[in-house]
Amino acid sequence: MNASLSAASGSISTVPANPVAFIDIGAQRRRLGSVIDEAVGRVLLHCQFINGPEVTQLEAALASFSGARHVVSCASGTDALLMVLMAKGIGPGDAVLCPSFTFCATGESIALTGATPVFVDVDDATFNMDVASLKRGIATARGLGLKPKAIIPVDLFGQCADHDAIAQVALAEGLFVLDDAAQAFGASYHGKRVGGFGLATATSFFPAKPLGCFGDGGAIFTDDADLADALRSIRVHGQGSDKYDNVRLGLTGRLDTIQAAILLEKLKIFEDEIAARNVAAERYARGLGDVVTVPRVADGRISVWAQYTIRLPQGQNRDAFAAALRTQGIPTAIYYEKSMHQQTAYRAFPVAEGGLPVSERLSREVISLPMHAYLDPPTQERIIRSVRGALGA
Ligand SMILES: Cc1ncc(COP(=O)(O)O)c(C=O)c1O
Repeated sequence: MNASLSAASGSISTVPANPVAFIDIGAQRRRLGSVIDEAVGRVLLHCQFINGPEVTQLEAALASFSGARHVVSCASGTDALLMVLMAKGIGPGDAVLCPSFTFCATGESIALTGATPVFVDVDDATFNMDVASLKRGIATARGLGLKPKAIIPVDLFGQCADHDAIAQVALAEGLFVLDDAAQAFGASYHGKRVGGFGLATATSFFPAKPLGCFGDGGAIFTDDADLADALRSIRVHGQGSDKYDNVRLGLTGRLDTIQAAILLEKLKIFEDEIAARNVAAERYARGLGDVVTVPRVADGRISVWAQYTIRLPQGQNRDAFAAALRTQGIPTAIYYEKSMHQQTAYRAFPVAEGGLPVSERLSREVISLPMHAYLDPPTQERIIRSVRGALGA
């Protein structure tokens, strides 16, 4: 440890030597060498900053990676969700079911259309949508006079939701599924990759995501050609065949060519990075499985480990635990300290009958450790030692 003067407060604080990165984007930059600079340089030369050739190339590469027939790139993961809901005409009087234990964009995209998000609970072991609560949520929505139209499961922290079980409910109830895979591009479920579940899948290329760009970005995956056409129109203000005849409401929803060029290079090493993330997850499980609840990947699923999220033993003070790690130079993060239905903007929306006790408990118990593809064994040993030390184990 060394002492340093904090310029902001003027106070003396202890700053640990050699702090660990929560996500080490710099390590990936070093591995990629000059290829990203060259890819960006090519865009700067051809100057097609909007809808340049790299956008089409990326969409083709993402289709082949995921197995989806159509990929429509867009400006963010939030737009990806919103655009599908807009294309399907979701609006006031409709209900869309989604988990509450998620990033706010899931429910926000629903509320932005004027429809009502109905929050459902999650499974205690996988943190993903609880199908029994989903069924109760559909009944709750109908009881309120709303028309349930869609389900948005979230593939939280990099692991797929139980897509077969959710598809059965959707089929029985006449709803479509929009998979929120913002955190899980590259993950798979019984041998099938994200991009092929439900009517459409939305993902995010926010820099911290498993496949991230150097700004905002997203994509939609679908096998439905008509939906893909509508999405391409919506991402350019609802443009029709004539550029100045807008046939529907839309957005400025395009992915920048520079971001597409960056993603094309990163996609080339993504497979290898997924494998490295899984090795890191196994090391954590071996080093920590006896002192905390380590995340469980359900049978038949491969996670991309957007987060490595543990649960602390009962009675352990989470703030004190995080503070103890901080003094060792180990950052932590809490996803999500409040579930959506507990947040100011979303409190008025309905929750599934029976409440959301698991979401509420997880919000009190979870904490995420550093996770990325470049986490080397010595650094991970240091994190594991610090975690055990903070727990007195
Ligand atoms: C589950 C989930 N959905 C949607 C989004 C929205 O993605 P973006 O930040 O690209 O708009 C995120 C981003 O963090 C997310 O984690």
